[in-house]
Amino acid sequence: MVPAWLWLLCLSVPQVLLEAQPAELYVEVPENYGGNFPLYLTKLPLHSEEAEGKIVLSGDLSMVAEGPFAVDPESGFLLVTRALDREEQAEYRLQVTLETEAGHVLWGPQPVLVHVKDENDQVPHFSQVIYRAQLSQGTRPGTPFLFLEASDGDEPGTANSDLRFHILSQVPAQPFTDMFQLEPQLGALALSPQGSTSLDYTLDGHYQLLVQVKDMGDQASGHQATATIDVSIVENTWVPLEPIHLAENLKALYPHLIAQVHWSGGGVRYLLESQPPGPFEVDTEGKLYVTRELDRESQAEYLLQVWAQNTHGEDYAEPLELQVVVMDENDNAPVCPPRGPPISIPELSLPGTEVIRLSAEDADAPGSPNAHIVYQLLIPEPEEGAEEIAFELDPTSGSMTLGAAPLQAGQNILLQVLAVDLAGAEGGLSSTCEVAVLITDINDHAPEFTTSQIGPISLPEDTEPGTLVATLIATDADLEPAFRAMNFAIEAGDVERTFGLDWEPDIGHAQLQLCKNLSYEAAPSYKLVVVVRSVANLVGPDPGPGSTATVTVLVERVVSPPKLDQESYEARVPVSTPAGSLLLTIQPSDSVSSPLRFSLVNDSEGWLCIKEGSGEVHTARPLQGIQPGDTYTVLVEAQDADEPGLSTSATLMLHFLKAQPALALPPAPVPARHLCTPRQSQGVVINGASGNSNLASEQGPYSFALGPNPTVQRDWRLQALNDSHAYLTLALHWVEPQEHVVPVVVSHNDRMWQLLVRVVVCRCNVEGQCLRKVGHMKGMPTKLSAVGILVGTLAAIGFFLILIFTHLALSRKKDLDQPVDSVPLKVAV
Ligand SMILES: *[C@@H]1O[C@H](CO)[C@@H](O)[C@H](O)[C@H]1NC(C)=O
Ligand SMILES: *[C@@H]1O[C@H](CO)[C@@H](O)[C@H](O)[C@H]1NC(C)=O
Ligand SMILES: *[C@@H]1O[C@H](CO)[C@@H](O)[C@H](O)[C@H]1NC(C)=O
Repeated sequence: MVPAWLWLLCLSVPQVLLEAQPAELYVEVPENYGGNFPLYLTKLPLHSEEAEGKIVLSGDLSMVAEGPFAVDPESGFLLVTRALDREEQAEYRLQVTLETEAGHVLWGPQPVLVHVKDENDQVPHFSQVIYRAQLSQGTRPGTPFLFLEASDGDEPGTANSDLRFHILSQVPAQPFTDMFQLEPQLGALALSPQGSTSLDYTLDGHYQLLVQVKDMGDQASGHQATATIDVSIVENTWVPLEPIHLAENLKALYPHLIAQVHWSGGGVRYLLESQPPGPFEVDTEGKLYVTRELDRESQAEYLLQVWAQNTHGEDYAEPLELQVVVMDENDNAPVCPPRGPPISIPELSLPGTEVIRLSAEDADAPGSPNAHIVYQLLIPEPEEGAEEIAFELDPTSGSMTLGAAPLQAGQNILLQVLAVDLAGAEGGLSSTCEVAVLITDINDHAPEFTTSQIGPISLPEDTEPGTLVATLIATDADLEPAFRAMNFAIEAGDVERTFGLDWEPDIGHAQLQLCKNLSYEAAPSYKLVVVVRSVANLVGPDPGPGSTATVTVLVERVVSPPKLDQESYEARVPVSTPAGSLLLTIQPSDSVSSPLRFSLVNDSEGWLCIKEGSGEVHTARPLQGIQPGDTYTVLVEAQDADEPGLSTSATLMLHFLKAQPALALPPAPVPARHLCTPRQSQGVVINGASGNSNLASEQGPYSFALGPNPTVQRDWRLQALNDSHAYLTLALHWVEPQEHVVPVVVSHNDRMWQLLVRVVVCRCNVEGQCLRKVGHMKGMPTKLSAVGILVGTLAAIGFFLILIFTHLALSRKKDLDQPVDSVPLKVAV
């Protein structure tokens, strides 16, 4: 009371400020107060000057009329007029105001909370006088199977209502006195550890327990009450369950009952867990249900666990386990492996070569018929009556192998295989699997020529190297470009490498070219053996005859037309030139070519004649009726003596000069030159200027002709060497060996003179030179000496002939000694 006073005094100063909402006053009143009434509770903080007003007390209105509270107007104290019962009402909310007569509020309203302070005047009560409980065998010790309930009217949260439970007695006290334990605060009854061990032996037993509940917590004092618990022991029905087999896709009404569990003890709740989580549930009676169709392919087995728990979620015993096996149904068709890229099989692979081992998957239970797949080849369909098939399929293993029928390189085959489960039985599910197969090429074809015989091809001898002779075409039946590449080679018939081949491996032809000059004389024909080979290694049979081609080349002889040493010829001829004078000699440019036959084409005047074999042009008759300065042109034709079709011609132009008496110059004081007979290649060089030294410096060509004497013309030949020199040789094979004086008419710049050239003709020795004896070197051999030599030679020949005949006659007799035979020979030597 005093603190309240102080507190009120303290508050009186700021009262004016807090007028609008004064703080609530709190007052406690002991319950069942046994002293005098009225009991003053607290002085209200009224101001004395305001005492004229009327104090109004309001609150829980029903109570206020004859309520236990009042305010003493004199002292301003709040008072209570009688004892209060907390259990009837624990708190009172009052409001005090000071009002004028007119009802004007002078002070307040002041709220007051009156709390009735509890006294332990209530006795605890059990909810039942007798509790009955069923206790299943196998209940874990410590797991409560019964929760006692008791109540106490006193104020909650205080010791007056703090209840404790105790077992006072157990009947029978067998086999132990403390079979049970009671949690004092919760009133949870459970088997004691000792009790649980011995409960099994007390089947059909009953226990009666006297239990007490007491307030005031653990203090010794307090109110108490008792009750009886009748515990009956029941058989344990919490027994393991057999596994359950459930068909997948089961058509049934869901939830579908699959099993039931039962905990025979009381106060049970069932709890179910599925591992892995599945569509299962348990109801309050322990019935297990599946709530929808199962799919074996997504989950084939479940492990269910069912717990029996008390109302507080504590396990009575270990959970029961239930295995649920989902039984397979053939609800999955075989699934083909994904179609990959084409499988490459080389052509000519042996029958039996495995192409693929097909393995379709079936999601149904492995090992069951539902997953037993067999295979059947759909495409290509084995043809009726066909002896050889291309593909074989083992129905059980799915192994696809090559059959005996040949396959072509480049073939693209799409195989279709039916995979059926149920081992192919009726009703099985199936899928069609596709397998692409590509037959790849191998180099099993050798390249072959399209033509094995080429030619004969004629090639002129003068064909230029590099000329294309022939094109050889070859083909290869393989597909792969690499296997079609080919190489060509000349294998025979061209030792000298006169021909060559030019080709590109990937183009199926080769060009045969000439590489060297041809020669008809060296080789009039060629038989070239050309082979073609595959660049890559050939698989299979060796190349056949088609890989060889023969090219026949015939060399055509080319004879060029004769060629003369000049394109045109000119000669200066004095008009007085006698008939038979050599004007010039027309010659082939090349002395090794075949002999020529010369003729004049249009010598209309008949002035000239030409020697058919030598090309010497002579005057045929005296030149009459010609003026100096005239010219005369004739065409000379030269014909190849061997090939009359080949000829050439050249013009010969004669310039006629003023006639001049031919000066017969005495033989030049040069030593006689020697030529031997029979004719050799030597000759005598004649210098045109030699007989006319004063003219030597003059320009212009000299022309040479033999003198008109027919014997001279017959025996000698004169050839112009160049403009100033001529070459005198023997014309006949044999010329009388003696000294000859050969007249040579030289013309130069309108003048003409005659040179007498001394030539000594002698016999040739073995070296083709003059046979001369040292002693007879000087002077020319006389007729007499020549006759002497001739007679001597004849005499010697005659002598030898006699000896030979004598010898032959003697040898016929055969009785003569050989030494005698040899004597005349020695004498002769
Ligand atoms: C081939 O003949 C030509 C003309 O006939 C000639 O010019 C060339 O030198 C000759 N070549 C050989 C290597 O003989
Ligand atoms: C001979 O033929 C040649 C060339 O055709 C010609 O120049 C010349 O005048 C001819 N001569 C005579 C005498 O007809
Ligand atoms: C002409 O030929 C002769 C003999 O071969 C030679 O000595 C002379 O120098 C030649 N003259 C000319 C101009 O070629």
